[in-house]
Amino acid sequence: MDKLKLFKAAGGMKWEDRYRKWKEGKAGRAWFTPEIKVRDSDIEQSLKEFDLKGKCVLDIGTGWGWQAIALAEKGYQVTAFDTSHTAIELCKTNAAQRNVEVDFITADLNFCDFDIQFDWVMDRGCFTTLNEGFHKSYCEKVAKWLKPYGCFLVKVNSRMGIPYIQTCFEPWFEVATAKPSLFQGGNPGSFTSLYFVMKKKNPI
Ligand SMILES: C[S@@+](CC[C@H](N)C(=O)[O-])C[C@H]1O[C@@H](n2cnc3c(N)ncnc32)[C@H](O)[C@@H]1O
Repeated sequence: MDKLKLFKAAGGMKWEDRYRKWKEGKAGRAWFTPEIKVRDSDIEQSLKEFDLKGKCVLDIGTGWGWQAIALAEKGYQVTAFDTSHTAIELCKTNAAQRNVEVDFITADLNFCDFDIQFDWVMDRGCFTTLNEGFHKSYCEKVAKWLKPYGCFLVKVNSRMGIPYIQTCFEPWFEVATAKPSLFQGGNPGSFTSLYFVMKKKNPI
């Protein structure tokens, strides 16, 4: 598959279109009500429960960047990327208004790579939007980007089901938490999700 087809199949154009329309006032709904600067309570709880002291964090599919910004405000060194250039520009504005530094990058996970490893990695709603055909390469990438024994925090749409997620990630991760939850701030209101904390198996 050539790169453009791959990009379309991965949904990159769809997301850019959504954010651009929202910015131009042409679409009432992105996926999230941006005015609600939600701090995800599951992530907050995991910071304590799993003692996530490592400072170097990656946020995949950061959207409006609110989780990344909230972590930077707590003193984490956050790298956050999204396939939508418009979303990343909004993130940069949001971070500047809050006076925090986050390394916001426009990148599609199917084409990007990092030459460092992160202490922990999070994904709130990106994996769940991917075509099934991209799931395996996604899991491989997250495992590569995580330090040995690092934690991966991921929230998906509840329709995916716990067994499917466990099967996808099982070759690289051990599931420490798997529970029903909500996408707080999701549009409209909140909607049901599954929240997972996984530990990278070593060696992989
Ligand atoms: C449901 S939204 C979640 C946004 C954000 N994480 C949050 O909690 O508000 C999914 C995000 O994943 C991004 N995304 C989808 N496919 C992607 C890809 N292949 N590479 C990078 N980002 C992607 C979308 O642009 C969108 O911002």
